[in-house]
Amino acid sequence: RPRVLSGIQPTAGSFHLGNYLGALRQWVAMQDTHDAFYCVVDLHAITVPQDPKQLRENTRASAAQLLALGVDPRRSALFVQSHVPEHPQLSWVLECLTGFGEASRMTQFKDKSARQEADRVGVGLFTYPILQAADILLYQAEQVPVGEDQRQHLELTRDLAQRFNSRFGRTFRLPEAYIPKDTAKVYDLQDPNAKMSKSVPTGVIELLEDPKRSAKKIRSAVTDTGREIVYDPENKAGVSNLLSIYSALANRSIAELEQDYVGRGYGDLKKDLAEVFTEFVTPIQQRVRSYLDDRAELDRLLAQGAQRAREVAATTLARVYDRIGFLPPV
Ligand code: TYM
Repeated sequence: RPRVLSGIQPTAGSFHLGNYLGALRQWVAMQDTHDAFYCVVDLHAITVPQDPKQLRENTRASAAQLLALGVDPRRSALFVQSHVPEHPQLSWVLECLTGFGEASRMTQFKDKSARQEADRVGVGLFTYPILQAADILLYQAEQVPVGEDQRQHLELTRDLAQRFNSRFGRTFRLPEAYIPKDTAKVYDLQDPNAKMSKSVPTGVIELLEDPKRSAKKIRSAVTDTGREIVYDPENKAGVSNLLSIYSALANRSIAELEQDYVGRGYGDLKKDLAEVFTEFVTPIQQRVRSYLDDRAELDRLLAQGAQRAREVAATTLARVYDRIGFLPPV
């Protein structure tokens, strides 16, 4: 079975609809066909300040959400990144192979650091994509299900793998980004030209908020002038975003939806989408609560996942250390 790996940051509150449609839905689907490794990337989370108690809670809540969304711990290794020390170990090696300029060109770093003074931006934020490359390469992953915003990090990962391979001999498999066609980038409901993101939370649908609140956000989503419900991202960004979300959640094609809404208004579309979303999210919220009710069991599942991950990660790291010329510790 081909290998797949992906990761998500343990954000406060909950994941949002962009995370789900851009990435997590694919995580769940790929379990049927792939040998899957999925991690909550707490090491990445500390690239910005975190409250210790909150971080622990967010990490558990993230794992509970992944399970509730359908990540199956019997089929996939679900683990917490800091439980597998090989991640930062490989990251250091890769840092030593990364050009300073190369890292400086990462657009996510440029965006994130532009908002702060230089001395407040941690070096960890700068090396963040290299740790991500280590996450992926340790597992020899072939596919990495992510949203569009991670494409550049995946290219860096491939470059680093290739560089290592050509310098030290074939060690890493070159991974590919697995980016969905219609929901690669879910847009903010209040600003349909901006990515849905919790750093600018205006029209963000959170998976664990009261569905009534989500329904209200959907009903007040910014749409476009005109009345026709057609998919046209260039000229009708708002309606097109709603159609993409609807199509993914209801498992119906956009063409089919366009047909259904001929002669009907934006209000109908929003009302129906709000219902579809509520139906989708209600059972998920219930499952999240029950996973969080049994913390001991949750922690046990994560320990099990980490054990499976470490077996693979340790094998890759040992090979890397050997190729580089580190003296074996025996
Ligand atoms: P993160 O935690 O910001 O987001 C998790 C996943 O959600 C996707 N995503 C979106 N997709 C579509 N539309 C949106 N509006 C949207 N917002 C977020 C992201 O593309 C991502 O797939 N660097 C990663 C975490 C990471 C990782 C890895 C990913 C660490 N190591 C190894 C893959 C493999 C990140 O910050 O994702």
